[in-house]
Amino acid sequence: MASFFSSARRVLTRALLVLPLALLVCFAGAANAAQWTAEQLTVPAGPDGSLVTFSEQEIKAGRKIFNSSCGECHAGGITKTNQNVGLDPETLALATPARDNVDALVDYLKDPTSYDGEYSISDVHPSLRSSDVFVKMRDLDDDDLRLIAGYILVSPKVQGLQWGGGKIYF
Ligand code: HEC
Repeated sequence: MASFFSSARRVLTRALLVLPLALLVCFAGAANAAQWTAEQLTVPAGPDGSLVTFSEQEIKAGRKIFNSSCGECHAGGITKTNQNVGLDPETLALATPARDNVDALVDYLKDPTSYDGEYSISDVHPSLRSSDVFVKMRDLDDDDLRLIAGYILVSPKVQGLQWGGGKIYF
């Protein structure tokens, strides 16, 4: 009888030890599991239709830079002071040249142009060219611009219409 109790206690103790461990493994697994699919992380690299797949780390890094450098005007993918020129895919695609790819966005952030591509707006829009005025651009290099572009293009694939949503179509 005594041995029955002691072995039962041993089983119970073991179960109590294993259970939290199993739960921990489950939660850790969920936290590390891929948040976004490769399809969502894949966006146009250039105007030629080539594609690039970002890693989640890159998109998260891009989000951080975007929020601190661009968030005051473009939070959520809209443009506060010009609702017609948001960062949603449709608006980017219809710009001249089309801005719905990484290369075009990186170019834009070096020397932004009007929506019709006719003239530079670097004196009023943050860019590397105007980093003397827009000081937040000073710390950014080409790779940072690439990460920002990735974030802008992946966001609508993850957030849907929430990105640039609430946009008013005139
Ligand atoms: C002071 C406000 C402000 C800040 C800061 C700002 N932007 Fe803009 N952005 C605008 C405005 C206004 C426009 C519309 C320009 C125009 O008239 O074509 C615009 C346009 C754009 C466009 C063109 C969108 C399209 O559909 O053609 C892109 C891309 C863009 N911004 C990216 C960025 C990024 C990335 C950053 C951060 C590095 C940034 N902007 C910081 C105000 C801002």
